[in-house]
Amino acid sequence: MTGKQTILLTGGNGFIGANLARLLMKSQQYRVVNLDALTYAANPLSLADLEGNPDYVFVKGSITDRELVASLFKQYQPMGVLHLAAESHVDRSIVNAEDFLQTNVIGTFTLLEAARVYWNGLNDDAKESFRFLHVSTDEVFGSLGADGYFTEETPYAPNSPYSASKASSDHFVRAFHHTYGLPTVITNCSNNYGPYQFPEKMIPLMILNALSGKQLPVYGDGSNVRDWLYVEDHCKAIRLAFEKGVPGEVYVVGGSNEQKNLDLVNQICAILDEVAPPEEVNQLREQGLKSYKELIRFVTDRPGHDRRYAIDAGKIQRQLGWQAEVRFEAGLRQTIEWYLQNPEWVDQVSGGAYGEWIKKNYAWRAEKESK
Ligand SMILES: NC(=O)c1ccc[n+]([C@@H]2O[C@H](COP(=O)([O-])OP(=O)(O)OC[C@H]3O[C@@H](n4cnc5c(N)ncnc54)[C@H](O)[C@@H]3O)[C@@H](O)[C@H]2O)c1
Repeated sequence: MTGKQTILLTGGNGFIGANLARLLMKSQQYRVVNLDALTYAANPLSLADLEGNPDYVFVKGSITDRELVASLFKQYQPMGVLHLAAESHVDRSIVNAEDFLQTNVIGTFTLLEAARVYWNGLNDDAKESFRFLHVSTDEVFGSLGADGYFTEETPYAPNSPYSASKASSDHFVRAFHHTYGLPTVITNCSNNYGPYQFPEKMIPLMILNALSGKQLPVYGDGSNVRDWLYVEDHCKAIRLAFEKGVPGEVYVVGGSNEQKNLDLVNQICAILDEVAPPEEVNQLREQGLKSYKELIRFVTDRPGHDRRYAIDAGKIQRQLGWQAEVRFEAGLRQTIEWYLQNPEWVDQVSGGAYGEWIKKNYAWRAEKESK
């Protein structure tokens, strides 16, 4: 024990959770207890360097496990919960929504119930300062037309099994505040990108496919629009909402950075053309590739694919002083560099082929950098 305040973090081995755990540990203000089931989407390597740190505790287990969750509240006496554990990939939810229902709905409910029982037993000061921060998505609001933005007032209209399960969990969080007074805060954020993202998601998928000379699949005609936020900016928003957010409130978070899918893929290709020119990479040179853009292929659209997401983040900016700091071009470049520099991390979640490949094909890079 180090005398720091303890946070119960769920899903810390996932993409956003790993970045958030790092941010919290860097602040030196908290002890972080990370409950993660280590599903396919988790990567133990993401937080491997925190092992042995007295302010970090890892617990392998599911948020659906009532006894385990209750025992963690009892043992660690957290001053709050940062709830990120979820099934998060829309395409998987279309194939089979069962896990989404279990983790996102039942798991969130289980966590809320345990938090409520624990919170009821706290003294008045601890009760007052306790927070249950639920991390959600803008996808619960459905799809926008050519104009307009999602705000905290936008009615819910989830269109995929993923967003339906997240919407359901948001409603339970809201209800636990209104019914029992549990001090909850919800954030609904747009698409994140950055280091430690599982390579089934669009940006890492495109980077890694391109570097392996594989096709770059773009849904429909590539005109669907998403708002992209660098993951560290999202983590800063989560921390602010946790520390300063008003119980019962919702804050929508976004990067004011709308990109058509096709434009995004073209930007990734342009940066890759510069930092890893195809003619300098054995396998791609053999394919006669001049630009990664030649790998782009349009594929049948995802069923129920929302057209456009965009966020008006005015409330969190005005009330909590949050601002996105990382410009998209810079964040995208940093992300690409990170995937180039971390083949072992990618191997851990992709079965090993990428690391071998990158060692073989990127010998030129190591040579170039050592000069
Ligand atoms: N990625 C985005 O762009 C984005 C945007 C807005 C909101 N969100 C939300 O943020 C949260 C984190 O998203 P992410 O992209 O980091 O997800 P992710 O899929 O990368 O990670 C999810 C983590 O949760 C863990 N997990 C899954 N089921 C669990 C269970 N039953 N018990 C304990 N742990 C379990 C996994 O092992 C994994 O470590 C999710 O709630 C998601 O809905 C994500």
